[in-house]
Amino acid sequence: MSNIPKNFKEKIISLCKRRGFIFQSSEIYGGLKSAYDYGPLGVELKRNLMNEWWKSMVHKREDIIGLDASIIMHPKVWEASGHLAGFSDPLVDCLVSKERFRADKAPKLNVKDDITITCNDKGQAKNFQKIIENRFDILLKREGKQLKGLKLIDEKNFGFFENNNTRPIKTFEYKGYVSPTFGCPFLSEERQFNLMFRSQIGPVDVLGEITKYIRKNKNTSSDELRTGIDKLVKKSAVYLRPETAQAMFVQFLNCQQTMSMKIPFGIAQMGKSFRNEITTEHFIFRSCEFEQMEMEFFVEPGTQEKWLDYWVEKRMSWWQKFANHPENFRYRAHDESELAHYADACYDIEYKYPWGYDELEGVASRTDYDLKKHAEQSGTKLSYFDQQKTDPDTGKNGWRYTPYVIEPAAGATRGLLVYLMDAYTEETIKDAKGNEATRIVMKLHPKLAPIKVAILPLVKKEGLPEIARKLVNELFELGINARYDEQHSIGKRYRRHDEAGTPFCITIDGQTKEDKSVTIRDRDTMKQERIPLANLKEIIQKRLSEA
Ligand code: GAP
Repeated sequence: MSNIPKNFKEKIISLCKRRGFIFQSSEIYGGLKSAYDYGPLGVELKRNLMNEWWKSMVHKREDIIGLDASIIMHPKVWEASGHLAGFSDPLVDCLVSKERFRADKAPKLNVKDDITITCNDKGQAKNFQKIIENRFDILLKREGKQLKGLKLIDEKNFGFFENNNTRPIKTFEYKGYVSPTFGCPFLSEERQFNLMFRSQIGPVDVLGEITKYIRKNKNTSSDELRTGIDKLVKKSAVYLRPETAQAMFVQFLNCQQTMSMKIPFGIAQMGKSFRNEITTEHFIFRSCEFEQMEMEFFVEPGTQEKWLDYWVEKRMSWWQKFANHPENFRYRAHDESELAHYADACYDIEYKYPWGYDELEGVASRTDYDLKKHAEQSGTKLSYFDQQKTDPDTGKNGWRYTPYVIEPAAGATRGLLVYLMDAYTEETIKDAKGNEATRIVMKLHPKLAPIKVAILPLVKKEGLPEIARKLVNELFELGINARYDEQHSIGKRYRRHDEAGTPFCITIDGQTKEDKSVTIRDRDTMKQERIPLANLKEIIQKRLSEA
């Protein structure tokens, strides 16, 4: 059963702000589109999530090593990977299917043509129908895998016509073409620029050089000027990485040789990536600055299918391990038309967001594409020699080959959103006066919870704060993130920590002084137990490690 509330935007976003998980960036200046700051609880949650990933990928395996590469890399990296060339055409996004395509190659329609959106199957048609209804407030007629009811009115407009009416119920701007795969007319604006954020490196006066260039070439056409300026800018251009993956290909040899790694082995990296997304949406789901957790697993050619299956299973069970609702995760194989140019197979691990199933992590079989491209561009041999193997072409002992790659590529910030949604729970309880009240509780996995234990003196006097503070310091010494909290009534403090996702609240009261016992309250069951203070640290350590 999904626990996701219908109006999640109001509920989760407001909880994130109220409790200090996520704030709008530069809020006092009106905010910056699609940029977010992770507040006191958000930063802990994000770090806990990423640390768990690092532990499972690097610290608990002998066959994976880590890397922390620079965000700005040599521009040739992006030429070789295809990121520079691939994204400099006039690009358009389909607002329904998310298909990204070149505007200049898209199919055009004739005036009065019916516009039929043709999906791959009925399920996809239902999904697209729902997206269109939510976003554009019209309910298209579904016939099998087709969606009908749209018609091109003139060269600039298309409309939604119901039951063969001659007047449209609603009209929309026609961009001059529809999406190539589905024939969908709901499209973003065209963009000429690259998806990567560009900057200049070194003490160069690019604006000065452009000004001089324009003065010298006053009589050339706009297209020629644009090409000339582009060349000038590119001389000192650098890019913020749009994925963490490429550094692991570029540093393949250094990592492999310094750590004497034998194939199969992996290189893992997590950190910031940047994409100048045209469509930013759903809070932190798709933003321009985000964090990724990626691993490139280098394998012998011919074994990629086996390893793809292995990593899809591994990654799925990792996500489910920390979830209250593992049934909300699924995987979906990419069909031929969806596959990236470098992949021979790919699975998406998807989560059931309030807007439907959508991507959380991609596990791709990237072939030997990247290593070969970087070898070609750099002139460095990026290959592996296996002395134990026989070369299948020559039949001789020893085999030199370019490894194939399986890449589990996850979004850390997107994962954080998933776990916030998974944890969000509303319960009806009886308040102190016996009236029904709603309890909001974030059932975050204890390993992810920002604060593990809240220490609450019942009153701010009679020596209780001193006992509480001593306990907090002892927990700090054990590496357990504890928090002293004396503000407001004990009931309010419990509610506050329920919303923060704190798994355990310890109350220090008058009896603590008499018999050295405390109460421990469990966040999820709200059960309270009286336990000896002397056993508390051991009990908490045990419960956290068993979780
Ligand atoms: N190296 C392959 C790669 O980067 P991707 O599917 O583009 O593949 C991997 O990205 C993951 O990164 C996605 O599954 C998603 O979780 C996350 N991601 C990608 N773009 C994002 C964005 N604009 N905002 C937040 N997360 C994003």
